[in-house]
Amino acid sequence: MVNYIIGIDIGTTSTRAVIIDENGYFVASSTKDYSLITPKPGWAEQNAEDWWDATISTIRNALEDSNISPKYIVGIGLSGQMHGSVFLNKKGEVIRPAILWCDQRTYTQCEEIYKIFGRDEFIKLSYNKALPGFTAPKILWLKEVEPENYKKVTQILLPKDYIRFKLSGKYVTEVSDASGTILMDITKRNWSTDILNGLEIDMSLLPEVYESTIITSKVNADASNLTGLLEGTPIVGGGSDNAAGAVGSGIVRSGLISDSIGTSGVVFAHSDKPLYDSQGRLHSFCHAVPGKWHLTGVTLSAAGSLKWYYENFGPSKKVMDTYPDKKGYELLNKQAENISIGSDGLIFLPYLSGERTPHADPYARGVFFGISYIHTQDHFVRSIMEGVAFSQLDCLDIMRKLGITSDKIVLFGGGAKSKIWIQIISDILESKIVTLNVEEGPAFGAALIAGVGCGVYSSIEEAVHKTIKEVSLNKPIEENVKRYKNLYTIFKSLYKDLKDNFKKLDII
Ligand code: XUL
Repeated sequence: MVNYIIGIDIGTTSTRAVIIDENGYFVASSTKDYSLITPKPGWAEQNAEDWWDATISTIRNALEDSNISPKYIVGIGLSGQMHGSVFLNKKGEVIRPAILWCDQRTYTQCEEIYKIFGRDEFIKLSYNKALPGFTAPKILWLKEVEPENYKKVTQILLPKDYIRFKLSGKYVTEVSDASGTILMDITKRNWSTDILNGLEIDMSLLPEVYESTIITSKVNADASNLTGLLEGTPIVGGGSDNAAGAVGSGIVRSGLISDSIGTSGVVFAHSDKPLYDSQGRLHSFCHAVPGKWHLTGVTLSAAGSLKWYYENFGPSKKVMDTYPDKKGYELLNKQAENISIGSDGLIFLPYLSGERTPHADPYARGVFFGISYIHTQDHFVRSIMEGVAFSQLDCLDIMRKLGITSDKIVLFGGGAKSKIWIQIISDILESKIVTLNVEEGPAFGAALIAGVGCGVYSSIEEAVHKTIKEVSLNKPIEENVKRYKNLYTIFKSLYKDLKDNFKKLDII
């Protein structure tokens, strides 16, 4: 008898549920979109209830499409956007909209964290900088700015762990997502009493932390009625979208690096030990592989930049007339293909909502530099793809300088569906780029992690070995690499030149 597993990813634009069989084959999937709330520039919130509604309908739809009886679902794995804060009262009700990973309002609270511990001391404790996107400063923000709400808080959960709570009634998290709160001692893979005491955050507000492959809870009667899952179906820890995405792309041993081009762009390197960068430039978190860690560099607006362009300016009329059979982002790909390396001198800085790596600057903003009369809509599309790749090179460069290298990079996420973007990334990162038989990333990875927890696979490594294959290899083109190197110098200096003026705009 074949076992089936469900993976659910609570993303920023949508929730996705996938059902796979134990060989990794897709049986069914369902996606539901929701919106981002931006009450002020630099703010980003979502209604946690929207994630739950989307989870119910995607599980129902996927089960229906699969024609599989829920009794053959051996387990559920959860993954989700990191760092978001869901504040609950004692009845388990949401107190206010969740504050998301791309929200930049907590700059002052990050400064306060450094004042309490000292900047270097804090990095030593948490292995990370205090950045506005992370969860800890959001908790301080609530305490200071909405004290009446803070008084009501009895539990703080991450997005996917809120869904676990709705499915099972249990307050639990796992190490990879918990790391993104920066309230952990990542070497001990548990909450840090030093950090919690320093920030005066009561540990009872936080869920218990498990390794990612552990069965944390079971689907309860209410959730069973709503989703169609059987009561008692095991729910495994799962992982942050980046850690689960890495599992779903086979990044589970040292010497492997992935690049995920989703709303954010993430360069991810597996590590056998917790790595400490005294400048905290990269995020240093627990991996979803038991007893392992990872380093990541994050471009906040990667495919998010292209989405912003698409939604506001759309494909050009010319490209729609030329390719009436194509739609959506395929048309943008065609536009980018019309333009040569370097977009004829148009350079894009993708800092639409500030930037994490390497600038850690919530004030940074997007820029098109070098516009002239020759530039067309097509140039703008290509320069967005190039600017995002340059920004991912900023992340990879730090890793390379720390001696973390790989002879190839596994690409996944929306960007991996575009041939032209793959070539641009390969040329700019100066690396072989491979794509895989599975493009799902986080949802697929969450299902594999669940498979380990429920005994379908003996380890994450076995799960990956059994289900993931490389399907394409793209090599950098020497001539392009050279031309991009020159442009990268200008790309890098632009941020330095504009830094002070970004701050003066101060629209957070
Ligand atoms: C990682 C990060 C983003 C979100 C997006 O630190 O903030 O990649 O997880 O989903």
